[in-house]
Amino acid sequence: MDYKTDVAIIGAGPAGLMLGHLLRQAGIGCIVVERSSQEHVLGRIRAGVLERVTTDIMDQLELGGRMHAEGMPEDGFNLADGERLIRIDIKRLTGKQVMVYGQTELTRDLIDAAASRDLPVIWQTGDSVAVHQIDGEAPYVTFEKDGETHRIDARFIAGCDGFHGPSRRAIPVASVKEYEHAYPFGWLGILADVPPCNPELIYANHERGFALASMRSRTRSRYYIDVPLTETVEDWPDDRLWDELAVRLGPEAGARITRGPALEKSIAPLRSYIFTPMQYGSLFLCGDAGHIVPPTGAKGLNLAASDVAYLSRALIAWFKKNDREQVAGYSALALKRVWKAERFSWYLTKLMHRFPGDGDFERAMQVAELDYIANSEAMQTAIAENYVGLPL
Ligand code: APR
Ligand code: PHB
Repeated sequence: MDYKTDVAIIGAGPAGLMLGHLLRQAGIGCIVVERSSQEHVLGRIRAGVLERVTTDIMDQLELGGRMHAEGMPEDGFNLADGERLIRIDIKRLTGKQVMVYGQTELTRDLIDAAASRDLPVIWQTGDSVAVHQIDGEAPYVTFEKDGETHRIDARFIAGCDGFHGPSRRAIPVASVKEYEHAYPFGWLGILADVPPCNPELIYANHERGFALASMRSRTRSRYYIDVPLTETVEDWPDDRLWDELAVRLGPEAGARITRGPALEKSIAPLRSYIFTPMQYGSLFLCGDAGHIVPPTGAKGLNLAASDVAYLSRALIAWFKKNDREQVAGYSALALKRVWKAERFSWYLTKLMHRFPGDGDFERAMQVAELDYIANSEAMQTAIAENYVGLPL
């Protein structure tokens, strides 16, 4: 079957779905193609801290109802050095909050509204999607489904297909510069239906390693510790993980942990990655398709949202006002914010983790920096304004 639309979107993750809804809201035609099923997309456990840029998009789409009803606005978060909590009062320091609301729930809200908002999503296209003639003004996407080859002719293609998608690879290597930094540890995460040990997030740098206490609701918690890349989930039965969390989060928070069986437990590697440029000809990259951040700064979803904010504005200007400048400037504008979020995520990862080979001196430097943060309003403000998200 052949389709014709204004913008073909590859990927029904947060980036693809937010972009699709914003374009449809502006009366611009688009079609989303997604390799997996709805169930698979909604089964992925992801992060849960939303910046204002993300909640603003949901509000602009009038899809924020459940987010405001079930999400938890947070006025601050905590850094810990194994002995005390250092509270970063983001509300007082920046006038903003962050919203704790699972990415899975946000994606569910976007999927549930797709049909009523006339946003077509073609599911389960597998690895068949290919992009064609992106260097011209009549690009197209092909994919296989139900034994047939299908084609979508569009004016633009938005690659919202995550780190493992095909879009990025369609850009000629000669035009590309990539930046990558792999971290020598992974995050072991556990999701459990137990009340959080603390009303606000805690990022801890204990001498035994990193821990994060987060949550999905008042009755569902999400915890992480860093583990060597050689370890597997099997090395960490629930009890061993709960014991380690109780130590790393420090005596106060550790004593408030409620234990329970893991609903989900997995290890994810940490990586900083930036692909430049985030556009080529009629192809644009949004979200993880263009960049990856270590989860320490809670920037992954929020960077996808800022890319979408920039690209949707540029495409709406193109189709509605024949304004060609914003489209031409998308990559440069998006990357300015991406690089600052990459820096903050890298900074917080280096501050809060014990790296292999770190000795007493490196630990002392981390403890000294945390003590400086604890006593410096200027440092706390710098951290707070990055955590809530820099202005668009
Ligand atoms: N064809 C079609 N769809 C594809 C293909 C393909 N070949 N390859 C990948 N996809 C889909 C994936 O199945 C996924 O649903 O693209 C979507 C990309 O979504 P995400 O990986 O969630 O990326 P993004 O929308 O940019 O959101 C970034 O998601 O992964 C987290 O940590 C990340 O929080 C960040 C957020
Ligand atoms: C989460 O709740 O999964 C989470 C929160 C904050 C982070 C990373 C993950 O920085």
